[in-house]
Amino acid sequence: MSVKSSALDRVLTLELARVTERAAVAAARLRGHGDEVRADRVAVDAMRKELNTLDIAGTVVIGEGERDEAPMLYIGETVGTGKGPKVDIALDPLEGTTITAKAMANSLTVIAVAEEGSLLHAPDVYMDKIAIGGGFPDGLVDLDKTPGENIKALAQAKGVDVRDITACILDRSRHAKLIAAVRETGAAIRLIGDGDVAGVIDTTNPEETGTDIYMGIGGAPEGVLAAAALRCIGGQMQGRLVTGSDAQKQRAAKMGIEDFDRKYTLCEMASGDVMFAATGVTDGSLLSGVRFGGNKISTETVVMRSLTGTIRWIKATHSDQSKFE
Ligand code: FBP
Repeated sequence: MSVKSSALDRVLTLELARVTERAAVAAARLRGHGDEVRADRVAVDAMRKELNTLDIAGTVVIGEGERDEAPMLYIGETVGTGKGPKVDIALDPLEGTTITAKAMANSLTVIAVAEEGSLLHAPDVYMDKIAIGGGFPDGLVDLDKTPGENIKALAQAKGVDVRDITACILDRSRHAKLIAAVRETGAAIRLIGDGDVAGVIDTTNPEETGTDIYMGIGGAPEGVLAAAALRCIGGQMQGRLVTGSDAQKQRAAKMGIEDFDRKYTLCEMASGDVMFAATGVTDGSLLSGVRFGGNKISTETVVMRSLTGTIRWIKATHSDQSKFE
């Protein structure tokens, strides 16, 4: 396969693993301690330190919030040494703060890097999302179709009975109608407490994860991060911002969004050459969590790149614990 050119050096994909590993180890120390705020803060701090060692001129486009509400990794903050290519950075130093505080499944540290101007600058509002794995005809599922139509279309394309389809949905009261509509079809639902980045990525490996389709409303920043991963692995995804209130519209407008009802395709959320990395904090469907044992720390990370379609699973054993202090 011939590989197109990109401003991004391929070494960067591997360097991203260090960034998510460091944040994951910091957050994992606080697994099960009931302190979401502190777990998030240490992950942010660790991720930022490592990010600032990279030879990139990065701008955070999806981060910890707006400048006045987040001291570090806020939207617009420049990161890296400033010496390398200009890149957009979407990050979530701790995707699943509650999960971490409760030591439950599927919390991750996540980052996506793409050429400047390639990632949707999503405001911190909700996004309605639908996603399936790769290998299906374009437009098989669509946010404008009913849940029943989407589930049936997927079952037909897979050549299975609707009862063999499992939809992953965040367990929220706002999803009561969606859940009822999916159940009506006879499909199963995997309700998750948090962590829809993993929920979306799980659709790309239904044999292992048991999830065929992701549906419902979660964070818009998490939507862009999941889209970045799907660009690398392959799959379909659409997202539409949920901007009911004036305050939400203002947030969106501040990020340059003009059409609040626009339905974004995968490539409109993450275009160009995209790199993605995630490290498990707690054990989950995608990755194992950090292990502390004796003098060693073990981590599991996935790194991927859209240009090549390469996906690497990195199980690392860290003997030098001082780098995580
Ligand atoms: P946090 O790490 O910020 O707690 O996000 C966890 C998460 O479950 C995301 O995966 C999801 O997109 C979002 O929260 C859903 O938001 P809400 O909890 O408000 O329904």
